[in-house]
Amino acid sequence: MKRVAILISGGGSNMLRLVESMTGDHSARPVLVLSNNPKAGGLIKAQQHGVQVAVVDHRPFGKDRAAFEAELIKPLQAAQPDIICLAGFMRILSAEFVAQFNGRILNIHPSLLPKYKGLNTHARALASEDSEAGCTVHLVTPVLDDGPILGQAKVPIVENETVDSLAAKVLRMEHQLYPKVLKKFAQNETQPVYLP
Ligand code: GRF
Repeated sequence: MKRVAILISGGGSNMLRLVESMTGDHSARPVLVLSNNPKAGGLIKAQQHGVQVAVVDHRPFGKDRAAFEAELIKPLQAAQPDIICLAGFMRILSAEFVAQFNGRILNIHPSLLPKYKGLNTHARALASEDSEAGCTVHLVTPVLDDGPILGQAKVPIVENETVDSLAAKVLRMEHQLYPKVLKKFAQNETQPVYLP
């Protein structure tokens, strides 16, 4: 049975779908939900689902990323995850940290990578007058939002689309895509998932 740690910074809606998906014949189970934000709403949801939680607040470390990551690694070492899922985790991880879990960190990004790496993806898609948007699950490598794609889901951009309406549509697809990708990844199937 593969052990999965999920890193969050906020509400944890993706984390919740991942936790709820790991049942029955799924070859993975959640062993830790870890946040850099002590107020992350997802921590309560994780506890309600009986998942171990931990918090390493990044703020006391200021710009000292290495010191923050030296603390962040501790609950992960205790939980011994086989797979780490970043789910709305808003801190950039160093190449050294990523290297310790090389090839075993997944991330979900709210754009059709390689387009719109970084932030404000929906506003950028609207500004470019794209006809579609979406989300991508990828392996995390030292380069931000750049690793091999494990899955993508598309949504149309319609007349009068706003950032909020697009974000809501994409988030709903994230909730479908991420659990499907994790299930395959946990079975060592790397054939990418494309939705719809
Ligand atoms: C959302 O903007 C989502 O697109 C991105 O992280 C943000 C929060 O997600 N992946 P969550 O509700 O905390 O999973």
